[in-house]
Amino acid sequence: MHPSTSSTVTLNINGEKHQLSLDHRTTLLDALRERLDLTGTKKGCDQGQCGACTVLVDGRRTLACLQLAVAAEDQEITTIEGMARGGELHPVQQAFLELDGLQCGYCTPGQICSAVAVLEEHAAGWPSAATEDVRPEHGPPELTDEEIRERMSGNLCRCGAYVSIVRAVARAAAQQDESAKEEAA
Ligand code: FES
Ligand code: FES
Repeated sequence: MHPSTSSTVTLNINGEKHQLSLDHRTTLLDALRERLDLTGTKKGCDQGQCGACTVLVDGRRTLACLQLAVAAEDQEITTIEGMARGGELHPVQQAFLELDGLQCGYCTPGQICSAVAVLEEHAAGWPSAATEDVRPEHGPPELTDEEIRERMSGNLCRCGAYVSIVRAVARAAAQQDESAKEEAA
């Protein structure tokens, strides 16, 4: 008997469960776009080079074109469609909008998902290749433009909107710091 090449899986996307029968070779990107009509996540290179397909899986940046959908079962998947809360844009979305962090917009969902994770990674004290002193006692590095460029370097923009993208991420980071201070006060 040949082993089955498809399975029924439950994907938890933006807080909603979706049951799908999938060929085991289906990528998460194709499942999102072709089966669930969640077309906010974009297909650029389809081989892990451009970052257009970036989504969050259990809060971590994931290239949906390199992730098999069946392997994402029981994990929390967040796509650009799930970033806004209660009718309000995520602060990163708002900053991209206000500071023109886009031109054609094709790379933007991936940039925004990536930036949301960058802020989390930075808040958790993760260093990057641009961090000069990675000793834990040195604390989290300042989120300079160089740090942002390095941390966002997996997301390409063919329009070259990088200057505005860095500004938008920096503004969202500053707002996050402000909110954290207000909460602590
Ligand atoms: S489409 Fe996935 S990295 Fe380019
Ligand atoms: S805004 Fe066009 S590819 Fe980035």
